[in-house]
Amino acid sequence: MSILITGGSGLIGASLTQMIVELGEHPTIFDIAPISPALRKIGSKFEYVQGSLDHLPELLNTIKTKAVDTIFHLGGMLSIPSEKRPWASFQSNVVGTFNVLEAARLEKVKQVIYSSTIATYGKDIQSNVIDDLTLQRPTTMYGATKVFGELLGCVYARKFGIDFRAVRFPSVVGPGGKTAHMSIYHSWAIEEPLKGNPYEIYVDPETRIPAIYFKDAVRALWLLSRAKREEIKTMVYNIAGLTPPYSAKELVETVRSRIPDARLTFNPDPTMMELVKEIGTLRFNEERSQSEWGWKTSYSLPEMVDDFIKEFNQNRSIYL
Ligand SMILES: NC(=O)c1ccc[n+]([C@@H]2O[C@H](COP(=O)([O-])OP(=O)(O)OC[C@H]3O[C@@H](n4cnc5c(N)ncnc54)[C@H](O)[C@@H]3O)[C@@H](O)[C@H]2O)c1
Repeated sequence: MSILITGGSGLIGASLTQMIVELGEHPTIFDIAPISPALRKIGSKFEYVQGSLDHLPELLNTIKTKAVDTIFHLGGMLSIPSEKRPWASFQSNVVGTFNVLEAARLEKVKQVIYSSTIATYGKDIQSNVIDDLTLQRPTTMYGATKVFGELLGCVYARKFGIDFRAVRFPSVVGPGGKTAHMSIYHSWAIEEPLKGNPYEIYVDPETRIPAIYFKDAVRALWLLSRAKREEIKTMVYNIAGLTPPYSAKELVETVRSRIPDARLTFNPDPTMMELVKEIGTLRFNEERSQSEWGWKTSYSLPEMVDDFIKEFNQNRSIYL
């Protein structure tokens, strides 16, 4: 296989790169940012191309020279940066996804796996249980760009035969995440105490934004990619994450039971509460991921916090 991972320097991309290297592959990462410190663990067992998703020739050149047959498209801007810089978000998330699919078509790439988000849901939802048929009417720039990516992928599958598959992740929790997004408190409420820092949580203690551990998230991307094509009917799948979603208060209690001197406080920010209001009440049904490609979340809240602490402590020089 010749694998390209866009956004390979990001939280999910670096972890996916590591997992794919451990499986014996030699992937190429394509990212506007320099190589992530998290990739130091795997030395030179991957290729790195610094490039921007909004430059089609850079993507075409990379795909051609590396003879890429599979793309994991994870590059792009997250929720808060997209709200702050909607014009830049349009370039990376909309133009960037169009360019990835167009380059895939021109270079005859077999498969494109796309990382979407539960932030594609928003207004006019009739029930608080979301399944793969629920209306997607996001009110944020981020959500709108990600719905576009999902739909464009389906168009390229129908019109040009690209094997496009996607997951909608809940909040992905893991060490070393640098990009602030609307649910980053899940990660930073564990990571800041490990660094010896205080951390103020910007949502109220009862907020329950669905979340998943990053090791489960990369496993989902890989499983989805490896499923037999005839099993893939829905193409874009919800991932529910830890079920039922834990509250911010339960997260703090779990962290404190492992790090008793953790200095965690709550100071709900009205702007952030407004952003997370819709997502925090929704519950996700992932029946189709389970039945079509055998998905199952493995980490519980205590297991996730324990593994996060272990991962951080084993690689302190990388994460500090
Ligand atoms: N982190 C989450 O909670 C979460 C949840 C749902 C979906 N996702 C999706 O998963 C993907 C990866 O998320 P992440 O958490 O690893 O984010 P991240 O911010 O850590 O990584 C994204 C990477 O994309 C790169 N990038 C951004 N714009 C680019 C451009 N124009 N050209 C090339 N590279 C560019 C960044 O440099 C970064 O390394 C994103 O597409 C995101 O929408 C993330």
